Amino acid sequence: MRLFRKSNDPKFLKDISQVFSFRVRTFGDTPAGVLWKSSEGQQLRFEVLFGLLVDQPPFEPVSINDFGCGYGAMFDFLLDIPSMAGMSYFGYDISREMIDTAKQHNLDRRATFSEASKVEIPADYTFVSGTFNLSLEVDHGLWSTYVKSTLNQLWNMSNKGLAFNMLDKNHPDQENGLYYAKADDYMDFCRTLSVNVTLIDNYHLDEWTIFIHR
Ligand SMILES: C[S@@+](CC[C@H](N)C(=O)[O-])C[C@H]1O[C@@H](n2cnc3c(N)ncnc32)[C@H](O)[C@@H]1O
Repeated sequence: MRLFRKSNDPKFLKDISQVFSFRVRTFGDTPAGVLWKSSEGQQLRFEVLFGLLVDQPPFEPVSINDFGCGYGAMFDFLLDIPSMAGMSYFGYDISREMIDTAKQHNLDRRATFSEASKVEIPADYTFVSGTFNLSLEVDHGLWSTYVKSTLNQLWNMSNKGLAFNMLDKNHPDQENGLYYAKADDYMDFCRTLSVNVTLIDNYHLDEWTIFIHR
């Protein structure tokens, strides 16, 4: 299922989609296939993001949007949590090859995967892990505008909360083609969306996570 017209996308998203298609074609449904350095780091990000559901009553039906879902590793993570047994999960990714791989990787009927660069169906919670890291040659001012506009759209599609992570601007060894963001800048932006905003920056990766709750 494709939920929007790709011709409306910023031009740079095509290049980003091609990089991820190449990665998943080369490395398959593995952390390297979505440009992560390790499985441990990928899982730790999911654990931190899952803190968003701290007030969610266990075992109640809950819907999840996973924006930039890759091959659906977050769905695997959520399946291992007994209280999430009644979830509905919707994964979105711009790379068609990534979505094809996700569909083969996750046959569970609770999961739906769509090739899309926008979420158009609201869910209780939205997760975004690593989706804004690869900016290639895009000017960082333009990238920041794109990220904030996308977060705004995602927030409008999140009934209860939104959590996203980004690489930390304070990290000393920065790689070309990646976008490093100031947590303060994004906290200020998120406070324009909700008064209930939390920064998590005490985990052992060179990045931070923000929770926004209604
Ligand atoms: C670093 S990978 C992380 C994948 C997954 N979240 C995980 O942690 O395993 C980022 C993913 O975001 C996707 N992506 C990047 N920009 C996107 C956009 N605007 N809309 C949808 N997907 C996007 C990429 O195709 C890629 O699969």
